[in-house]
Amino acid sequence: MTAYISDDTRKVTTHRLVEMKQRGEKISMLTSYDYTMAQIVDGAGMDVILVGDSASNVMAGNVTTLPITLDQMIYHAKSVVRGVRRAMVVVDMPFGSYQGNELEGLASAIRIMKESHADALKLEGGEEIISTVKRIISAGIPVMGHLGLMPQSINKYGTYTVRAKDEAEAEKLLNDARLLEEAGCFALVLEKIPAKLASRVSQELSIPVIGIGAGSGVDGQVLVIQDMLGMNNGFRPRFLRRYADLHTVMTDAISRYISDVKNLDFPNEKEQY
Ligand code: KIV
Repeated sequence: MTAYISDDTRKVTTHRLVEMKQRGEKISMLTSYDYTMAQIVDGAGMDVILVGDSASNVMAGNVTTLPITLDQMIYHAKSVVRGVRRAMVVVDMPFGSYQGNELEGLASAIRIMKESHADALKLEGGEEIISTVKRIISAGIPVMGHLGLMPQSINKYGTYTVRAKDEAEAEKLLNDARLLEEAGCFALVLEKIPAKLASRVSQELSIPVIGIGAGSGVDGQVLVIQDMLGMNNGFRPRFLRRYADLHTVMTDAISRYISDVKNLDFPNEKEQY
């Protein structure tokens, strides 16, 4: 196994991500929601850490990302920022915190930035939210776009299947991507769309395009950390590569602890005062 080792300890900035795209270096991005995990992910050399609203699913056990609140996202973001030195920390704006109008979106964005000390925000949507995106960027806050499968709109789609397979939706996605770049977004996430379309978006835009279930022709990849570490046994979409089986490792360790406690093996003489 070859590990990717970087001795570059400089903070990752929006500018550096664009440089990475220009020189063809792929961008690595993973989610984190707490201090301990963020320390490990940052220490391993991750470029971008996303405090995703997927916290609603993997941390809180909700079926969708919709219930998570602004306060809860700020709590997760603060915890992550305390554990990170080098990676750029991007925070998802939760459902309901920016769709109303530009000023409401700006107020939510400012709260996240002021209280969490994160580096940037991510919003789902294209043309429909473009004035809010511009307003947030005009306040000096870097924005990452998110198109394709947008989990905050799951009740509109009714399914988590691949998006933009037909021509009309693909055209809309291309148009939205161009609008987000023109509005000043520093990067774009494309979720669960055909690889060919994602690759075309990446070629057309000069900002980095980061994919999840969007093939290899983009400028970087993002996954939910619990999924790629194999903590979440039931979730196995085609795009997911599991780099560990932590579900088994953790269940085994916890079972051994239970046995040791029950059998009076823990603590032993050396493990007490
Ligand atoms: O919330 C999240 O984890 C995300 C990624 C799947 C891109 O938005």
